[in-house]
Amino acid sequence: MPHLQTKRILLGVTGGVAAYKAAELTRLLVKAGADVRVVMTEAATHFVTPLTFQALSGKPVLTQLWDAGADNGMAHIDFSRDVDALLIAPASADFIAKLVHGVADDLLSTLCLARACQLFVAPAMNRQMWDNPATRRNIAQLRADGVTLLGPASGAQACGETGPGRMLEPDELLSLLTASLQPKSLAGKRVLVTAGPTIEAIDPVRALTNMSSGKMGYAVAQAAQAAGAEVVLVSGPTCLTAPANVQLVAVRSAADMAAAVDAALGGVDIFISVAAVADYRPAQPSEQKLKKSDAPLTLALLPNPDILADVASRADAPFCVGFAAESKNLLAYGEAKRQRKRLPLIVVNRVQDALGSDDNELWLLDDAGSHALARADKLTLACQLIDHIANLYSLQKQG
Ligand code: C5P
Repeated sequence: MPHLQTKRILLGVTGGVAAYKAAELTRLLVKAGADVRVVMTEAATHFVTPLTFQALSGKPVLTQLWDAGADNGMAHIDFSRDVDALLIAPASADFIAKLVHGVADDLLSTLCLARACQLFVAPAMNRQMWDNPATRRNIAQLRADGVTLLGPASGAQACGETGPGRMLEPDELLSLLTASLQPKSLAGKRVLVTAGPTIEAIDPVRALTNMSSGKMGYAVAQAAQAAGAEVVLVSGPTCLTAPANVQLVAVRSAADMAAAVDAALGGVDIFISVAAVADYRPAQPSEQKLKKSDAPLTLALLPNPDILADVASRADAPFCVGFAAESKNLLAYGEAKRQRKRLPLIVVNRVQDALGSDDNELWLLDDAGSHALARADKLTLACQLIDHIANLYSLQKQG
């Protein structure tokens, strides 16, 4: 499970159908060890009763500016003073507009204004409300004000329409919040991550590639950024959006990736090679489209450069972390790869688990042996991996 053991979270629930999902979010936050206090707007209480949140958080739910139970009569500022994060989920279009203008006419909006912690906002609204120029302006302003937007997702909406504006699912909100609250163990460090597949052209329309989705590499880049690092993500083609505040360098072939890694390496402290680089490329890609015929076709293939092994063998090599996807003898094959590529750390996963899925299970192999990371979503695992890397890195620097 994600680690929120010492974290105090103020969860603000505003008026929207997605308020029912905030109940599940409360349960997940509590299960992850967080101390959760729920504040509801008046509109939110029309969708779900405060009693539901009280039962799930184990604490009285605050709804009114005038009767909130702080001893000193300062509820409007007290409850957001000592928390680690304030999360508004769902955040209605109306509440977002209030945040933008600093309106403080109920308990939740007042607490947002008086906060000393990071503010996370998970919008939930009809797609036309989301696309409205007023909402677009408000969202841009929230970002400029340093507020962290979580979502929204696109998909079926309660109104029967389909489009952007759906609140992220509770488990997605939990893992994004958890990642953001990780200790800043890589503050001041520069991290280079490779991700995704590479595509090796046969001709202008055909190519060799593999099934990598890029999800693990993007999660690692996001976790490194959340741990305070400056992150460059060199990625083969994927359907994913780069995590916020990560510099994306998009590439296609292994040769492109090798060149992009080389260009980005200056000043890099840690190199994490998650990409599923194609092992071979067509020896002579055709400039023209190959014509189909009934005769068998033989493609001559050349091995691609091993980007990771090349970086790790440099005299000024950064701290290098490899990934190994294996279908059997996981630990033995992984350790052999670690030795061959001269890596302080390699991350082993099962081919069946790794490719394309949202969850994974990892084994970290280093000089001290193997450490298993139990099955979890890829961002949660990436945060645990980044913790491990930060520890090994600082030990290496001390030694
Ligand atoms: O040898 P194998 O492909 O299994 O090694 C996997 C590790 O090496 C991964 O970290 C992958 O990103 C990296 N690699 C690379 N360049 C290659 C092949 C693999 O950087 N040509």
